Amino acid sequence: MDGTQIDPVTLEEGGLTVALPDGRRGYFNAWWLRDNCPSSFDAETRERTFDIFHHATTPRPAEAHIHEDALVVHWAGEHHVSRYPLAMLAAYAAGVRRHDPADLPRRPWFADHYPDLTRVAHPTLHEDPAERRRLMEALLVEGVAIIGDMPDTDAALTRTAGLLGTIRPSFFGAYFDVRTHVKPTNLAYTSKALELHTDVPAEELAPGIQYLHCRRNSVEGGLNLFLDGTAVANDLREDDPEAFRLLSETEIPFYKEHDGIDMRARQRVIELDHNGAVSGVTISQHMADIFDLPQRLMDSYYPAFVKFGRMLQDEKYVMRFTLRAGECICFDNHRIVHGRAAYAATTGERHLRGTYTDRGELRGLYRALVSEGRFH
Ligand SMILES: [Fe+2]
Repeated sequence: MDGTQIDPVTLEEGGLTVALPDGRRGYFNAWWLRDNCPSSFDAETRERTFDIFHHATTPRPAEAHIHEDALVVHWAGEHHVSRYPLAMLAAYAAGVRRHDPADLPRRPWFADHYPDLTRVAHPTLHEDPAERRRLMEALLVEGVAIIGDMPDTDAALTRTAGLLGTIRPSFFGAYFDVRTHVKPTNLAYTSKALELHTDVPAEELAPGIQYLHCRRNSVEGGLNLFLDGTAVANDLREDDPEAFRLLSETEIPFYKEHDGIDMRARQRVIELDHNGAVSGVTISQHMADIFDLPQRLMDSYYPAFVKFGRMLQDEKYVMRFTLRAGECICFDNHRIVHGRAAYAATTGERHLRGTYTDRGELRGLYRALVSEGRFH
């Protein structure tokens, strides 16, 4: 060493600093390094098997150097040598969230979206992973897609939803049938108009992805209404930042009381992601409980709530169409708001079968499909 050169690795009190391939120098804490030695993870299960809680001493590098594309650390007081790929260290040097391939940018859409809806066909979806990927990307980016050529069977919906996750029951069971019931327990089971809503906010974690398989639809009326809640919330943010703040910070109560059940949960009407961007909305007048907020807060909350509710109905946002028999619409239930115009029950048959899976599992399957794994 000639004295002007900086050592590629410098030991420090709590860890070490290392020269990264991109020219940066990164500091890494010794506990973090010891805990995340590639040998800490089981090759088969890929789970962490190393137990930092039972590590006898404070980890301290006795010696460290770079060999080929790895940082090699000899630990003091134990016969253990760790080798860290420099690419792994580079990924964690800045202390920011690990890149997530499922974090695709959301693309807001408006009333004229129908011709551009992503469409896949049931048979190819089951055979072709590229088609599954296209469907998953549509759900992540636009929050909605239509699957065509669905067989007219109960199993078709279960099998299709099963491609994107495990069927996730709600308090009314593993699936539901939307048609006119003789003794309805829900407005959906009548022929009346169904106000724009997201499903089941009375559950602590409302269902993530919703599937509606249209089995019969020969009635007059009953147009399907769908809109992108994030597009509306983004406009509200521009138009009325204070209303936006109230709706994204205040939790309001939702409920469902029926047949021996008393479901209650609190939700924010506008949901933000870790970047502060709008990631979804929750709205349901039929499941909104009596707001038990301070009455003085109501002075500002109600005008904001009503303004947003009116915006949701604006022609700019609402996509109207008729779901045909053999089509299954799937959508992000935390983002896409849906409803139905009234129909004349005596003019024909209308039957939709619905179920849910979760968003987290969709993201998990998507990441696995695009194969972006960990560093061990
Ligand atoms: Fe619904």
